[in-house]
Amino acid sequence: MSRPLLRDARREAVERLRAVSETPALDADLLLCAALGVERAFLLAHLDDPLAEAAAAQFEAWLARAAVGEPVAYILGVRGFYDREFIVTPDVLIPRPETELLLEQALAWAEDHPVRLAADIGTGSGALAVTFAAHVPSAQVVAVDISPAALAVAQANTARHGVSERITFLHGDLLAPLLERGLPPNLIMANLPYIPSSDLPALAVTGHEPSLALDGGPDGLDLVRRLLAQAVDLCQPGALLLLEIGAGQGEAALAAVRAIWPAAEAAVLPDYAGHDRIVRVVV
Ligand SMILES: C[S@@+](CC[C@H](N)C(=O)[O-])C[C@H]1O[C@@H](n2cnc3c(N)ncnc32)[C@H](O)[C@@H]1O
Repeated sequence: MSRPLLRDARREAVERLRAVSETPALDADLLLCAALGVERAFLLAHLDDPLAEAAAAQFEAWLARAAVGEPVAYILGVRGFYDREFIVTPDVLIPRPETELLLEQALAWAEDHPVRLAADIGTGSGALAVTFAAHVPSAQVVAVDISPAALAVAQANTARHGVSERITFLHGDLLAPLLERGLPPNLIMANLPYIPSSDLPALAVTGHEPSLALDGGPDGLDLVRRLLAQAVDLCQPGALLLLEIGAGQGEAALAAVRAIWPAAEAAVLPDYAGHDRIVRVVV
């Protein structure tokens, strides 16, 4: 029996993933590349090659899982973020491209402001903490999460990217571990859970990603407000806070900032789709 061409295997996979994925072509390619052990550029240049039998069996097994909605990042155990690859497990949120905007803001700030201590609050896989540490070799970084399982994944990513010496992991609630130790960061990055609780049941991610990483309370901003209330006792004037928020949450998030720091320089930055995405505050 003749073996299918990569082109046909790929097309069929895209059709099977269309109902469960917003990026079926990318997901099909990630699975096919992993099954073949090749980069995407190689795959695209060899679409008229036949699909080898061993790779076909692995591809089909993974595709069957993805076709019922299991995220490809969990199936493969890795996800790209900014300029590197992170280990991900179902204990952590799969890093999203929108969060790269927050990282870019932090890196731009670090170009002309000395960052003594950066904090990544709700570190999950460690994507923000690790990437920031890798790009700003002069900075010390503290990464906090309330989930010990997430901290274990972040620690593995820290070792993988060779920045273990400059990242300290603390278990606890938002800024509480820094308050307890008297450690004031002059940069805070936080992608905290911000999905309103009532929106969760209808979302595809629910059931796969940890609810601890998603549920932001009644209007989605419970954790952001609590973090701001803690930050007022911790941050020195001139510190930068970068908080990821959901579409439509900008006004409420800015009101929460102004209730604490009426005179702070605060703005909501949009993502590439034009949605509210980052609250940027210089206190
Ligand atoms: C939306 S995920 C973000 C993960 C990662 N920073 C990223 O951008 O991919 C939120 C993270 O916050 C953590 N978290 C939830 N509540 C927390 C709390 N009260 N204190 C510290 N971390 C918390 C969750 O365990 C989860 O890892």
